[in-house]
Amino acid sequence: MRLILTLTAFLVFFIFAESKLTLPLRRHEGLKNKLIREGKWEEYQKRISKSSSKGVSEVAQLYDYFNDFFSHTVQIGTPPQTLILRPDTSSSDLWFMDKNKCTADQCKGFPSLTSNFNRSLFDSTKSSTYAMVKSGFMSGVCLNGSLGSDMFTMAGFPSITQQFGLCFDVDKFMGLHPFDGYLGLAWPALSTSGATPVVQNMISTSTFDKPVFSVYLLNDNKGAITYGRNTAGSITYGGLDSYNCDSNISYVPLSSRTYWQFTMGSFNFGNLTINKNQQVIVSTAEAIIILPDNVYNQIIAQINVTYFPLVDGAKYLVKCSQAPSFPSLRFTIGANTYVIPGPGYIDQLPTPPDTCALRIETPEGFGFGPSWILGAPFYRTYCVHHDVGNGQIGFSAQTPKSMVI
Ligand SMILES: *[C@@H]1O[C@H](CO)[C@@H](O)[C@H](O)[C@H]1NC(C)=O
Ligand SMILES: *[C@@H]1O[C@H](CO)[C@@H](O)[C@H](O)[C@H]1NC(C)=O
Ligand SMILES: *[C@@H]1O[C@H](CO)[C@@H](O)[C@H](O)[C@H]1NC(C)=O
Ligand SMILES: *[C@@H]1O[C@H](CO)[C@@H](O)[C@H](O)[C@H]1NC(C)=O
Ligand SMILES: *[C@@H]1O[C@H](CO)[C@@H](O)[C@H](O)[C@H]1NC(C)=O
Repeated sequence: MRLILTLTAFLVFFIFAESKLTLPLRRHEGLKNKLIREGKWEEYQKRISKSSSKGVSEVAQLYDYFNDFFSHTVQIGTPPQTLILRPDTSSSDLWFMDKNKCTADQCKGFPSLTSNFNRSLFDSTKSSTYAMVKSGFMSGVCLNGSLGSDMFTMAGFPSITQQFGLCFDVDKFMGLHPFDGYLGLAWPALSTSGATPVVQNMISTSTFDKPVFSVYLLNDNKGAITYGRNTAGSITYGGLDSYNCDSNISYVPLSSRTYWQFTMGSFNFGNLTINKNQQVIVSTAEAIIILPDNVYNQIIAQINVTYFPLVDGAKYLVKCSQAPSFPSLRFTIGANTYVIPGPGYIDQLPTPPDTCALRIETPEGFGFGPSWILGAPFYRTYCVHHDVGNGQIGFSAQTPKSMVI
């Protein structure tokens, strides 16, 4: 969790310690207005009606904050309450904060930040279909809560009955971030409560047309942090994203049905080549690429970095303008090599000029699971197709069409 905090800590460091910035969050303009303004509203409507009439799949719009994480909305209860969750392909629990019992500052959002976001915690007393299952629930930054059950839907699918954690004690991490909880998209083996994860539940209730989901993260930031709540891509549930993603998908079998875990045959970065199988996972909840210490050190040795000690551990900065000349991260998975060039593994910081954060880190503090984790920089470069039915993961090129939603 420490690692996930790093960029936020960095921003907070500038905002509070240096007082150079007010948090320049932009209000999200709203998809409809944006599409109308860009003359794409009609095309969007056609696309939506096309996909729902075929019943193939439904698309959940993703939003991003600081390039640091991505969120989409879900609806819980009767009548439905809308919550903003962080879809996480490296955990398997659905959980969110309890409006009545989660009352600390981190539940509401730290007062200094909440002018930039509004929380809508789940109020189980306002739902006629809510049922308490049992007490005792923990998952990641949810430190204590209970297991409940209620009607759940997302992305326009019919409602299903779904179990989830209702948390009343959360880590301070939650106070910094404008989302209400997590939507775990990994395998049932990682479910901390034994509850069936959302995706498996939707598959077993035939809610999904196909037992797959595709993640498409926009790659239009060109390494620059965009402030506020911005369109960040989409997750297509119950079908492959054939709109934003090339249909030439290369699959590899999962080596473990826990995380989305598979074998990488080799890795290259400049003069460093590792020709030995490595276990790798993908994670939409990591804003970075994580790799082992010895690999990290050999990467740092090949690029022009500045050590920058932060309140929350060490961090390297680079000159954004030098990134195009940095070696690429090259991951060979199955028969193909997936390449993230320099500008794809840095993010621009608000100040000083030409300053970027390196989006590569070591597993320090992560503590479990494989030490290679392909986070947002990978998802922003390739479409990732999570094939639950066949226990495999697929990658394909992004093919953003005229309309980017
Ligand atoms: C949060 O809600 C308040 C009160 O409804 C509103 O005035 C404010 O603009 C909202 N803030 C954001 C960022 O949406
Ligand atoms: C969780 O909260 C319950 C109720 O307050 C308490 O009895 C229990 O000890 C807590 N569990 C942990 C692990 O803190
Ligand atoms: C499919 O994608 C792979 C990996 O990018 C590439 O090597 C192959 O040539 C592509 N095949 C076609 C038919 O485009
Ligand atoms: C790779 O390049 C770096 C920087 O030029 C150098 O310090 C290091 O010794 C090189 N490593 C090998 C194995 O050649
Ligand atoms: C590293 O960056 C500094 C400016 O930040 C520049 O003066 C220097 O030439 C760079 N070194 C290399 C090896 O690119």
